[in-house]
Amino acid sequence: MTTSHTLFPLLLPLAAVLALVSVAAAAGAVSTSDFQKITREERNYRQKKVIDVSHKYVPELPAYGSKNGLGNFIRLQTSIKLGDLSNYSFFNLSTHSGTHVDAPGHFNETLFELGYDVVSLDLRTLNGPVLVVDTPRDKNITAEVMRSLNIPRGVKRVLFRTLNTDRRLMHKKEFDSSYTAFTSDGAEYLVQNSDIKLVGVDYLSVAINPKDELTKVHQLLLAPKDFPERWLSFAASVWVVSQRNLFVFP
Ligand SMILES: *[C@@H]1O[C@H](CO)[C@@H](O)[C@H](O)[C@H]1NC(C)=O
Ligand SMILES: *[C@@H]1O[C@H](CO)[C@@H](O)[C@H](O)[C@H]1NC(C)=O
Ligand SMILES: *[C@@H]1O[C@H](CO)[C@@H](O)[C@H](O)[C@H]1NC(C)=O
Ligand SMILES: *[C@@H]1O[C@H](CO)[C@@H](O)[C@H](O)[C@H]1NC(C)=O
Repeated sequence: MTTSHTLFPLLLPLAAVLALVSVAAAAGAVSTSDFQKITREERNYRQKKVIDVSHKYVPELPAYGSKNGLGNFIRLQTSIKLGDLSNYSFFNLSTHSGTHVDAPGHFNETLFELGYDVVSLDLRTLNGPVLVVDTPRDKNITAEVMRSLNIPRGVKRVLFRTLNTDRRLMHKKEFDSSYTAFTSDGAEYLVQNSDIKLVGVDYLSVAINPKDELTKVHQLLLAPKDFPERWLSFAASVWVVSQRNLFVFP
């Protein structure tokens, strides 16, 4: 079947990650050279600045289309106080809660059935150097805005900081449908004129709210025509603090 053929390119990054991990997984006694390799990697790793852009899951975190936020999403199943061995909890929340990524199959049945879920996303796309840009506060992310930002070719990851951050929308429990995000012409511009593979926005969706725009933007970004050669994913609702900046993830 074509499935394994289509998936093959995805196995390469995974193999690279495993090769790195295998430094720490030598069989038998650990040799001096294993130790040197791991300390060298550790030193390189320590030099990188790692920034976790995830929002904390709290009951007041807004949820798409809801007045009530995330609500009581965590339930303690066993409790030390009540004499159990450990505290042990259950989560019940949507896979699109807070800071999350959308998979290629999110708005595309074919890709969904082919298994393009979040597990299929490339970890090297999800982590790495990222450009943070401020967008004009009086506009959505349109083609005109994208043109004016002048994001150079070669930039792979961009976090768009918008009016949503000024309005502190991620800190308001009630969902606000007037959030700033991509319009379909903005998404089209990004696909045609940039090398961006990871798009981050500062509220719960990458696309503006009207239903036809919501569909078009997701289809343009998640299932571009040359999929899987060109393959975008995006993290919604990142919360970024400083000026226009270059953050480096490991
Ligand atoms: C275990 O859960 C209880 C609530 O039943 C909580 O008060 C306590 O702090 C928890 N203990 C730990 C170690 O997390
Ligand atoms: C989980 O949350 C959903 C949505 O609020 C609800 O419909 C469902 O009953 C919940 N499931 C459990 C096991 O609590
Ligand atoms: C972005 O689009 C939404 C939905 O159409 C609208 O409510 C909002 O006012 C727009 N935001 C800006 C900054 O123009
Ligand atoms: C779904 O993805 C496939 C593969 O990229 C593409 O050919 C098709 O046009 C997409 N369908 C929609 C509705 O976007």
